[in-house]
Amino acid sequence: MSDYVKIVEVGARDGLQNESSIVPAYIKQELIRRLGLTGISVIEATSFVSQEWVPQLADAEEVMAAIKRRPEVRYPVLVPNEYGMRRALAAKAREIAVFTAASEEFSQHNINCSIAESIQRFKPVIEQAREQDIWVRGYISCVLGCPYQGQVPIAQVVAVATQLRELGCDEISLGDTIGIGTPHQARDMLRAVAAEVAMDRLAVHFHDTYGQALANIFACLEEGVRITDSSVAGLGGCPYARGATGNVATEDVVYMLHGLGFDTGVDLDMLAEIGAWITKQLARANTSRAGLARLATMSIKPKMFA
Ligand code: HMG
Ligand code: MG
Repeated sequence: MSDYVKIVEVGARDGLQNESSIVPAYIKQELIRRLGLTGISVIEATSFVSQEWVPQLADAEEVMAAIKRRPEVRYPVLVPNEYGMRRALAAKAREIAVFTAASEEFSQHNINCSIAESIQRFKPVIEQAREQDIWVRGYISCVLGCPYQGQVPIAQVVAVATQLRELGCDEISLGDTIGIGTPHQARDMLRAVAAEVAMDRLAVHFHDTYGQALANIFACLEEGVRITDSSVAGLGGCPYARGATGNVATEDVVYMLHGLGFDTGVDLDMLAEIGAWITKQLARANTSRAGLARLATMSIKPKMFA
């Protein structure tokens, strides 16, 4: 087993997509720039989804244009359909992520179609990616439970993972979207998927709703996984998963991995500073939002708001 664990940093996308305040593009760009200096090799940058559905990431083009890409870093973007792919290509994305679910109800709530329809939508997207040598990740949400339908059979996770791999996904991320799983469940799910899709193609993606994320990652490391998603400062959630709290914090994951003797290539001190910095930016954004809301209710307004 390799001693290297690849961290996929999802804070700028999975984190900021779920913030109540809309973070300006220049802060997102600065977050991505700072993360790029830490040694993290994959930084999910944004999503080319509908801005009606996820207004927090409506500035995807602006963010992509502003990133000064480092050659050693990949900057994947989420793409739900061919329209999203056209936008991603125009923004010169070199890595994309398609996303579906192991739960039918979640798929309907998240992307407004069935799992089978989502797979059909991905076909032309992945074909184009292959033609242009673009790296493709496939996400599966709700691998350990669904906010709408409850239990999700492991067989369903295996079936979706197999289809994504056959379609041509280079890597498949198994998402516990609502952070409901516990370590043995996580291990059993991963073991079943790894019987069909090679372990080195699999990543785990835990949200920390019940504080299980690190324990789940540990169980999956023991099973052989060497790619894990996380979010600086534990930003995040999913707008279409009620109760989904933040992703596991990258700082905590890196601390645990280094303590276990794994190499991540990531500078933990730098990461911790970025976590503190982005938290401060979000607090500021929330304060100014609350200030604006207060102003809106005041009968006498300063001139600029009148
Ligand atoms: P829809 O409404 O079914 O799409 O949305 P439609 O094809 O009927 O089009 C409706 C309108 O959306 C049209 O505009 C389209 O042009 C527009 P109109 O004619 O009404 O003006 N549209 C788009 N606009 C911009 N970019 C696009 C796009 N496609 C259509 N790509 C759609 C379907 C998939 C677009 C919508 O449901 C959507 O954007 N969903 C996104 C949901 C999302 O981003 N969820 C969070 C990410 S997943 C996640 O967080 C989980 C993960 O972290 C893993 C885990 O934790 O489990 C990955
Ligand atoms: Mg997520």
